Amino acid sequence: MKLIAPSLLSADFLHLENDIEMVNRSEADWFHCDVMDGRFVPNISFGIPVIQAIKKKVQKPLDVHLMIVEPDKYFEAFAQAGADIITFHFEACAHIHRAVQKIKTLGLKAGVVLNPHTPVAVLEDILGDLDLVLLMSVNPGFGGQKFIERTYEKIRKLRLMMDEQNASALIEVDGGVNTQNAKALFEAGADVLVAGNAVFKSENPMETIHQLKQ
Ligand code: DX5
Ligand code: ZN
Repeated sequence: MKLIAPSLLSADFLHLENDIEMVNRSEADWFHCDVMDGRFVPNISFGIPVIQAIKKKVQKPLDVHLMIVEPDKYFEAFAQAGADIITFHFEACAHIHRAVQKIKTLGLKAGVVLNPHTPVAVLEDILGDLDLVLLMSVNPGFGGQKFIERTYEKIRKLRLMMDEQNASALIEVDGGVNTQNAKALFEAGADVLVAGNAVFKSENPMETIHQLKQ
């Protein structure tokens, strides 16, 4: 699969509606929303009321990436706010299996996120339960950072592990994705590419989304 999920973290917060409408009209597939708590990551972004507002305008699934400690405390609130997909960090949760089941019970798709230093092997015994695995290709917390090249190897390893287990989770890559590396990332086995700066800071965001999909 080749899906593009523009990250609203890089959108114009003063004119969020314009950017949302652009994404609605574009070839993008999901809206990626980065929730940061200033504890799990050294930055604070936006939370539940903003997601609720965004939900009123989006015509595509809302992919909510939780960069927060104790994520399982908030699954219900984000589900009510309109999330279609919730991903949370492996490094922020002691009970991954329970947390994944909780998201699924709420009727949403569930994914686990791995920081750049966390090996894909930690997912071996949970892979079959996941709808999505999100590989961070930068250290989480900020948009506009440089892509970590090691990510290609992680995608290939994860793809191999999934093939061995006949697992069907989507592989999503987040951080430093642009029109230069998108093709190679899809070829390495990624299914979903998140792009913040590459889309919203470009001259023609709709055209950039089109190019990312090629
Ligand atoms: C970073 C976030 C990303 C971020 C990506 O912690 O998870 O989703 O918005 O931004 P770019 O594409 O600019 O690296
Ligand atoms: Zn993200």
